[in-house]
Amino acid sequence: MVPAAPAPASRLVVAVDGPSGSGKSSTARGVARALGLRYLDTGAMYRAVTWALLQAGVSVDDPDAVATAAAGVVTASGTDPAAPTIHADGVDVSQPIRSPEVTAAVSAVSAVRQVRSQLVEVQRRLVGDGGVVVEGRDIGSVVLPDAPVKVFLTADNRARARRRTAQDGGADSTRDATAADLARRDRLDTSRTVSPLAVAPDAVVIDTTTLSLSDAVDAVVALARAAQQRAGDEGPARPEDGGVP
Ligand code: DC
Repeated sequence: MVPAAPAPASRLVVAVDGPSGSGKSSTARGVARALGLRYLDTGAMYRAVTWALLQAGVSVDDPDAVATAAAGVVTASGTDPAAPTIHADGVDVSQPIRSPEVTAAVSAVSAVRQVRSQLVEVQRRLVGDGGVVVEGRDIGSVVLPDAPVKVFLTADNRARARRRTAQDGGADSTRDATAADLARRDRLDTSRTVSPLAVAPDAVVIDTTTLSLSDAVDAVVALARAAQQRAGDEGPARPEDGGVP
């Protein structure tokens, strides 16, 4: 007899948006682990496509070339919050997508309408019927407008540059350059025509400047539990519960 697939802990969907360095990734992963949910890093998907285009020698400043080449790139996202992975065309690119070359090119690639519609479709398919924390820039506003929990994380520019520098293993002396790069990406991400970085009207804004990681995780977990209670979705403790909010 084939054993039944394990029931998802919950079908809750949590959307976590915000700019780079706002604490999004660590918070989203922490929330997923705390609630037994999957974790989907949509920024990694844009980075994986960018990596593949750079490998193929595509000029990222040519939107038509980007759209055509990106259509042939297949990404695969591993959604375990303890060890998320990302593949592009079968290659594990979890490390190379963090390179300065990819970071410099990803805003141009993610501004191309066809790339966005291609990846949004994959993202919605991966979310399926829920049980996931999804991190990005347009999750609450475009990808999953019906998500029952939406948070938008912010932090002041100094805190964001400090965190990004530490994450990248950079010395303090590189912090000014990191701050300038963050400002450049913010400008590109908020001014692009398609799905710019924006706070969804029903998102809860959390400023993480003075919050520890565990405080930020606790704040989002509290919102998620409140949403679960509102929806009567208490996960595996209530097997009769279909749990779809
Ligand atoms: O979160 P990150 O720095 O890994 O994201 C990389 C880039 O991808 C970022 O410059 C903005 C873009 N992005 C996006 O446009 N939409 C998303 N949902 C996620 C990321």
